[in-house]
Amino acid sequence: MRSSPIPVRWEVATDERMRDIVRRGSTIALPRYAHSVHVEVDGLSPHRWYWYRFSADGEESQIGRTRTAPAAGQHLDQLRMAFASCQNYERGYFTAYHHLASEDLDLVLHLGDYIYEGGTHQGRPRQHNSGEVETLEEYRNRYALYKLDPDLQAAHAAFPWAVVPDDHEVDNNYANDLEQDLAVSPRKFLERRAAAYQAYYEHMPLRRAAVPKGPNMQLFRTLAFGDLATVHLLDTRQYRSDQPNKDTAGLGDDSKGDPRATMLGAQQERWLYAKFAMRDQAWNVLAQQVPMMQRRRPRDNSRRDNLDQWDGYPAARRRLSNALRENATEGVIVLSGDEHENWVSDIKANFDDPTSPTLAAEFVGTSISSAGNGYRTTAQFQRVIAANPHVKYHNGRRGYVRCTVGRETWRTDLRVMPYVTRPGAPIGTPASFVVERRLLNPAQV
Ligand SMILES: [Fe+2]
Repeated sequence: MRSSPIPVRWEVATDERMRDIVRRGSTIALPRYAHSVHVEVDGLSPHRWYWYRFSADGEESQIGRTRTAPAAGQHLDQLRMAFASCQNYERGYFTAYHHLASEDLDLVLHLGDYIYEGGTHQGRPRQHNSGEVETLEEYRNRYALYKLDPDLQAAHAAFPWAVVPDDHEVDNNYANDLEQDLAVSPRKFLERRAAAYQAYYEHMPLRRAAVPKGPNMQLFRTLAFGDLATVHLLDTRQYRSDQPNKDTAGLGDDSKGDPRATMLGAQQERWLYAKFAMRDQAWNVLAQQVPMMQRRRPRDNSRRDNLDQWDGYPAARRRLSNALRENATEGVIVLSGDEHENWVSDIKANFDDPTSPTLAAEFVGTSISSAGNGYRTTAQFQRVIAANPHVKYHNGRRGYVRCTVGRETWRTDLRVMPYVTRPGAPIGTPASFVVERRLLNPAQV
């Protein structure tokens, strides 16, 4: 792109051929935001489809489709959404998005690892376009590579997306201002985080409220869907304390760990717990990055606890479950990414007491492509399930998760494919789960 501002025109229509245009305007694509534009359109009707396109310099974009949310408080019987995470370009094709684009959805949630920061590796189905990315220019080029994927483009063009980043949009397993291996100073790392956050903002459908200020970016937020569901998008990276024990070993036991450990930071915790007291919607969705369930590893299991997940922050998890109990928050569903495997679990008031109340149900999404083809499950994982009665299911194949939210029941379909290292995999549904809202009742305590 030339290094000057470029005028961009935008149009919104009620039909896919862009004949009935109901809103139009112009904006300026600035070099300082990589010539991205973020248009906030008002005056649209609630709860309906719209189509949009951009034009600049005599060129016209493809036509995208989006959907407005229901009006505040509007009665709503059903919400259909899918969530995805973890799309390492080198490890496979984004075939999952080809299938997702033909689903019947109101919303797509992306729970992080939209790009991976690493360099190129031999022998992979596709290759990154540089070494590990650290500068603003390098992050921008990495997004450009990912955004050229036709399946990813189709999924963006088909539905509105709501997004939150995890670690790989910046650096693997970072915690606030601390790099994974602490090889650079917090001050230096924050310069990298500022570049990474800026590129994330530029390339993602985010509003003005999310414009980064240096290394800081306002990402936690709430989306309401009529009187049916509230989606709390959480940020478990920007404010968290460092992983315990240098992120190497230890048991994720609620009685252990630093009582000051935090995933969300004090301000986001206060914000979230205040939301728990509200009764405006039937379902409260926590859309966030890393698995929340406790997983004790059986002694014969070589896998260790993942201290980058909530198991590494038991005090923070305890504060969150106490807030759910104190507010008797109903209909809580936790959606998580990061794991590159599907897991399904109850969130218990006390994970070590199977008779304790179930506060929430958690669905962990698998990856779009990260870690390659994967596997259905193994005896090792089945032993983890046997040792953790609240855990219901494991599957290690690639795909996304589809959720159909009704007034009294929540249905989750796990959508997975047999391979991603070649294009064209079919998709199937090896398991579905139904949550009955009346059974998620912290008031039983
Ligand atoms: Fe990931």
